[in-house]
Amino acid sequence: MKEKLDAILKNGLSEIENANDLKVLDEVRVKFLGKQGELTSILRNMKEIPPEERKDVGMVANVVRNKLEEAISSKLAVLEEENLIKEMEKERVDITMPSKGTKKGSLHPLTRFNNKFIELCVEMGFTVIQTPEIETDYNNFEALNVPKNHPARDMQDSLYITDNILLRTHTSPAQVRAMHTFKPPFKIVCPGRVYRNDDDSSHSPIFNQFEALVIDENISLKDFMAMVKAMAVRLYGKDVKMRVRPSYFPFTEPSIEIDATCQICHGKGCSLCKGTGFSEFFGGGIVNPKILEMAGIDSKKYSGFAFGPGIDRSVMVLNRIPSIKYLFRNDMRFLKQMR
Ligand code: PHE
Repeated sequence: MKEKLDAILKNGLSEIENANDLKVLDEVRVKFLGKQGELTSILRNMKEIPPEERKDVGMVANVVRNKLEEAISSKLAVLEEENLIKEMEKERVDITMPSKGTKKGSLHPLTRFNNKFIELCVEMGFTVIQTPEIETDYNNFEALNVPKNHPARDMQDSLYITDNILLRTHTSPAQVRAMHTFKPPFKIVCPGRVYRNDDDSSHSPIFNQFEALVIDENISLKDFMAMVKAMAVRLYGKDVKMRVRPSYFPFTEPSIEIDATCQICHGKGCSLCKGTGFSEFFGGGIVNPKILEMAGIDSKKYSGFAFGPGIDRSVMVLNRIPSIKYLFRNDMRFLKQMR
């Protein structure tokens, strides 16, 4: 009997050793250790063995079984590992292959312009703020010395929500909010969307402005001009020329309109600048002392300047965009060209 068990062990081990895939290994397991297996049938027929041999045979049979089980489980581990490696080999990705190219988004031309402007203002020490697009009539008009009969308050131009609430018609309410929030001296800019009831080929009901306000002691028109010049040089290069025209805003006194070298013809004169070589750059002026007083700032001690260019037109000129409407339609064909 013992010889028989030795033979089973020997054959079993060699069959296990030679099993080269999981299926074959399982067949080997069934053949030796399964219910009908060679070893199992010996154990089952123990009663046919003479009683004096039974104990020894039983012991040897158990040792054989343990050895076979051990051999099977280590072979199993080896085969599974091999399988895993094969799978991984199949799924291998060559990360050095050039990609098919992904579609990348890009920033809207307005955002690009704004970012450039914000960067410049932050370098100059401005704090960037954002104020609500839905404003009170007071912040949008009253506190800015816009009289009740001013055309900008006309229902035709402003988009009112209630009698006292409207979509801001300019970013200048940011001046009012800043004066109530910060203690002088301060410098703020507020880029943002503004709304007017205006809709034709060259006007959009939505457009964008960039408000700036500087309040300090002894601020004069000279400071204003120096800062605008520095900004123009940064945006348009050191050869930029500027000219100043008188203007009117209820909240600045005096008010001026500043033109800079046309960026399309570089001063030669073109259809866009109507042959003048200049295009509108900034509108602004010295903060009307009345505005400071209304906000509780001592106008004898403090003065300031403010400006609030519309930026859509500059973006159109710089990117040769023929109509302001393109800026707000989000037409993919247009946006792709603007990359
Ligand atoms: N808010 C004015 C406008 O919309 C522009 C402006 C801003 C003028 C700041 C003076 C000072 O036309």
